Amino acid sequence: MKVLVLAAGLGKRMKSKYPKVVHKIMGKEMINWVIDTASKIGSEIGVVAGHKADVVKKVIPSHVKVYIQKEQLGTAHAVMSAKEFIDPEQDLLILYGDVPFIKEETLKNMWKVHKNTDADVTILTAVMNDPAGYGRIIRDETGKFIKIIEEKDLTEEQKKIKEANMGFYIFKGEKLLEVLPKIKNDNAQKEYYLTDAPALLDKVSTYAIEDVFEVSGINTRKQLIELEKEMRMRIIEKLLDEGVTIIDPETTYIQPMVKIGKDTIIHPMTFIEGNTVIGEDCEIGPMTRIKDSTIGNRVKILRSEVYGATIEDDVSVGPFSRLREGAVLKKKVRVGNYVEVKKSTLEENVAAQHLSYIGDTFVGKNTNIGAGTITCNYDGEKKNPTFIEENVFIGSNTALVAPVRIGKDALIGAGSVITKDVPPGALALGRARQVNKKEWVYKRRKKK
Ligand code: UD1
Ligand code: MG
Repeated sequence: MKVLVLAAGLGKRMKSKYPKVVHKIMGKEMINWVIDTASKIGSEIGVVAGHKADVVKKVIPSHVKVYIQKEQLGTAHAVMSAKEFIDPEQDLLILYGDVPFIKEETLKNMWKVHKNTDADVTILTAVMNDPAGYGRIIRDETGKFIKIIEEKDLTEEQKKIKEANMGFYIFKGEKLLEVLPKIKNDNAQKEYYLTDAPALLDKVSTYAIEDVFEVSGINTRKQLIELEKEMRMRIIEKLLDEGVTIIDPETTYIQPMVKIGKDTIIHPMTFIEGNTVIGEDCEIGPMTRIKDSTIGNRVKILRSEVYGATIEDDVSVGPFSRLREGAVLKKKVRVGNYVEVKKSTLEENVAAQHLSYIGDTFVGKNTNIGAGTITCNYDGEKKNPTFIEENVFIGSNTALVAPVRIGKDALIGAGSVITKDVPPGALALGRARQVNKKEWVYKRRKKK
C-alpha cells in the first residue's frame, strides 16, 4: 500500500510565516508524526505540499516524494496533483499532515476491513455527539452507504446525522484513478471534494474509530497545545498504569516512544524524549532532560542533561552533569556536579565527581578523576583521544593534553599538565616545583 499525505492547506489560523504542518508538537513536526506512522504500514510515501513547499521539503525525510498543488482547490484536486504517485495495482491510503496522532493500529485495522470486504474504498468514520464541521455519512434505510455530504451542503435534517467522515480513506488505486476526473466543484465551497469519490464507486466500506482524539486535527496554536497536553497526559497515565511513579504530571514531559521500567520515580520538571529507555528502580529528576538515551536499573539522575548516552546499572549522575552523544557509563560509575562527558567510555566504578570535561576518552575501571580534570581533546584542528587505564588516580586540576595514554595504577599529581604518556604504576608530575621563601612577607613589610 502507498500512503499519500495531504498537506497543501494554508493554515491561516496559525498566524505563522511557516506552513502549518512544520510546527512541532511533542518535539516533532506535525507532518513527521504522520510520515513516521505511515512508514510503518506503507511501502512508499508521498506528500502533497503547496504553501511554502520548500520549507515542508526541508523537514521531511528525503525518501518521501513531494508533489506540488499550486492552488488549493480542494482535497480531490490535491490528490489529483499527485496523480503519478497513484499505482493502479496498489491500495492508496490518504492521510492529513495536520492530524499527527493517528495510530498505526487503527490504520492496520482499517486496511484489514478494506481487504476483507474487497472494497473499492474504505472510509474512516466516527459516531460523534457533536459532529459539527465534519462531512456526514449518508445511508439508505437498509444502512447501505449512499454518499458523503459536507457540512456546508447539509440540510437541517441531515445535520442531525451523527456518523461523520474523518477524512482518511483507503482506495484501490485503479478505482481512484477512474473516479478522480469525474469529480466536479459544484458545491458551496466551489472546491473539488474527495468526499464525492466514494459515491461514484460500487463497493464502499466504512471503518469506525472509537477514539476521536486520534483524528483530531490542528488549525490553531490553541488546538496544538491542547492536543499536546492531552497526548502528554495519556502517556503519563499509561506509565502510571505500568508501575512508574510520576510525582507531578503537570510539569513532566514524556514523549510517546519512551519506555520506563517498574518502580522508577520521575520527579517534577523532567523531560524524557526521543528513543529513550529507562530501567527499573531509577530516580530521575527533578529538573532533568534526557533524550535518545539508554539507562539501566537503579540509576539516579539529578538536575542533569543527558543526550545520546548509554548508562548501565547503579550509576549516579548529577547534580548539574551534562552527558552528550556517545557517553557510555558502565556499572557503578559516579559522575557529579559540572562534569561534561562526550564520546567517552567510563568503565565500571569510575568516579568523576566534580568540574571536569571528559571528551574522546576511554577510562579504565576503578579510576578516579579528580576535581577539575580536563581532557584537552581539541588541538585547534582535530579531536584527539585520551586513554586512561584502570586503577589510575588523576589529581585535581589536571590537564591531559591529547593524544595521551596513562598506564594502569599510575598517579598524576594535582595541577599537572600531562603532555607525554605515563607508564603503568608511575607518579607523573607536570607542574613547577613549589618554592617557599622563608620570612619573605615580613621582610617586605619592614622595607616599606
Ligand atoms: C475534510 C473532509 C470532511 C471531513 C474532514 C475531516 C473534504 C471535502 N472534506 O474537510 O468531509 O469531515 O476533512 O477532518 O475532503 N488540503 C490540501 N489541498 C486542498 C485542500 C485541503 O492539501 O486543496 C489538505 C489540508 O492541508 C488538510 C486536509 O487536506 O490537511 C483537509 O483539508 P480541510 O480543508 O481541512 O478539510 P475539511 O474542510 O476539514
Ligand atoms: Mg476545508
